[in-house]
Amino acid sequence: MATQDQKPVVLAIPKREHLSSAEAISTIVNKSKTLRLTALKRSPSAFTSTYAREIQFNEDTWTNRAFNPLTRIYIALSPSATSANIRPESNEDNGSHSIEQILIDRRWLGQVTLMGPVVLPTDGEKANSAPWELFKGLDFEQAATDAQGIPPGSKVVYVLLGMYVLPEKRGVGHGRSLLEAATGTVREEAKGKKVDATLVVLVGRENERAKKLYERVGFVPWEETVDVEGEEHWPLSLDVGQ
Ligand SMILES: CC(C)(COP(=O)(O)OP(=O)(O)OC[C@H]1O[C@@H](n2cnc3c(N)ncnc32)[C@H](O)[C@@H]1OP(=O)(O)O)[C@@H](O)C(=O)NCCC(=O)NCCS
Repeated sequence: MATQDQKPVVLAIPKREHLSSAEAISTIVNKSKTLRLTALKRSPSAFTSTYAREIQFNEDTWTNRAFNPLTRIYIALSPSATSANIRPESNEDNGSHSIEQILIDRRWLGQVTLMGPVVLPTDGEKANSAPWELFKGLDFEQAATDAQGIPPGSKVVYVLLGMYVLPEKRGVGHGRSLLEAATGTVREEAKGKKVDATLVVLVGRENERAKKLYERVGFVPWEETVDVEGEEHWPLSLDVGQ
């Protein structure tokens, strides 16, 4: 367990329009890119994408990914003496300047991306058996606009992507803190929008450590694995009521 002064700190990347300058945007995009490429290089079996593919992404692709309007990217940061006073929930409003500075100053130790919500089609058998497919080929701007108008009582889906903690920083709770930040957002949004939400994640069949971590924060593994791009994965999901 982490001691009090090592308590993991997790913050979400603010929306692009809440950052103070082009330089701040560029620094945050670069930090996000560096951590993602490190993840693909050092833990290649944990992801369906590859280092060889993403090293070819241009600046626009990394920027669009960092500020995708349908995602929230949570960052685990190196702790400091003042870390206990940071309130992640102030991230998107008045607190975003100090959040920006903390993200720029501190070392990034891990990240996870929360994407959603999208409405689960009522007649979609395929959507129920493979809800992660709903996020493929989406127009993210449109989906983010649609997400504002989801009617109460709907059933919505979120997906977790790209969960990673630097190998030398594992085992002290950064992974759990990242998941708690993401699941906390889903709970808040489900309550605010008065919808039922399901958060899904796909974990490689052999990735027992990640699977156990998801289970410890409440995710339930499906009965069978699924084939995703030629590899077997466990789907796990967390249902959140209104
Ligand atoms: C999965 C991963 C994100 C976990 O990150 P982490 O920061 O180590 O996670 P935490 O420290 O919060 O939790 C790890 C849990 O394993 C336990 N643990 C600690 N050291 C461990 C070890 N060496 N082996 C197994 N379990 C260990 C911890 O006690 C903790 O359990 P708890 O929540 O009951 O306290 C990290 O291992 C990782 O980045 N793996 C490679 C990428 C990956 O697999 N991503 C998932 C894709 S779906």
